[in-house]
Amino acid sequence: MSANKNADGGWKSFIWNSEKKEFLGRTGCSWFKIFIFYVIFYGCLAGIFIGTIQAMLMTLSNFKPTYQDRVAPPGLSHFPRPDKAEISYSIKEESYKPYVDHIKKFLKAYDPENQIDTTKFDDCGEQLKTYTDRGPLESDEGVRKACRFDRAWLKDCAGIEKKDEDFGFKEGKPCLIVKLNRIVNFRPRPPSSNDSIPEPAHPNVQPNLIPIHCTNKREEDAEHLGPIEYFGLGPGFPLQYYPYYGKLLHPNYLQPLVAVKFHNITRGYEMRIECKVYGENIYYNEKDRYQGRFDIKITINS
Ligand SMILES: *[C@@H]1O[C@H](CO)[C@@H](O)[C@H](O)[C@H]1NC(C)=O
Ligand SMILES: *[C@@H]1O[C@H](CO)[C@@H](O)[C@H](O)[C@H]1NC(C)=O
Repeated sequence: MSANKNADGGWKSFIWNSEKKEFLGRTGCSWFKIFIFYVIFYGCLAGIFIGTIQAMLMTLSNFKPTYQDRVAPPGLSHFPRPDKAEISYSIKEESYKPYVDHIKKFLKAYDPENQIDTTKFDDCGEQLKTYTDRGPLESDEGVRKACRFDRAWLKDCAGIEKKDEDFGFKEGKPCLIVKLNRIVNFRPRPPSSNDSIPEPAHPNVQPNLIPIHCTNKREEDAEHLGPIEYFGLGPGFPLQYYPYYGKLLHPNYLQPLVAVKFHNITRGYEMRIECKVYGENIYYNEKDRYQGRFDIKITINS
């Protein structure tokens, strides 16, 4: 009993010892010193923290990613882009309408009436040309103009004329619209010679062009592929559309397009096709099916 009482008194005097004027075992002065110590201590920590982040931010550019190792090689993408990279339809409108709508939506930005503003766009010519230099990234020139790209250049795959409004899907001659993904400040370099690329792609090699070539993925499918036609400024991506200056400096940038039209894919056959771009600084990756190439299955049922 008495021990208990003592303990009780011990607790109370620990919290507030009126004799020594101590709160939780320390005097007010001692508490005050501890408080000041921690204010300074944490203040310094916060200072170091903010300082390093500021220093880090100063080394970053608004215009150019500091590290772009993950995206350095360009991806190749296509429209329509269905799930599982598989286009399968029959010659009935409701079966190909989603594909056609997808292409139409994508090509809207390439309508000439969206590229009229001369403060935002300029003509880079319809002949293949070398890179369009619009000054260094880090300069005070501000927003750069973008090269116009008229969807009419995609001819039979432009979806402008009545007979092509479904991008060939109706006649079983579907078009794919292909683009190279944007990479800030990237200048794709064309193949230096024909020797570095497979022979069937040679006819697509032209000066100032990153050639694209599509073919059957499996050797045994060759007879089912039929002829392929390419539309655009050439069978590939013209250099005058590069480099891209990034979202801030190049907000109106349009990627050049290539349309690939498959004229005679065997009906009712699951055709596996691979499209690839070729260039000195374009690489492929076993793990990334869209780096510099893509493959797609096309099945046209009658
Ligand atoms: C590559 O081959 C094509 C056709 O075979 C030819 O037109 C082109 O000039 C050649 N290009 C080079 C760089 O040799
Ligand atoms: C399309 O390919 C088939 C064989 O798959 C062939 O018999 C036919 O003549 C070809 N059509 C055209 C227009 O080339």
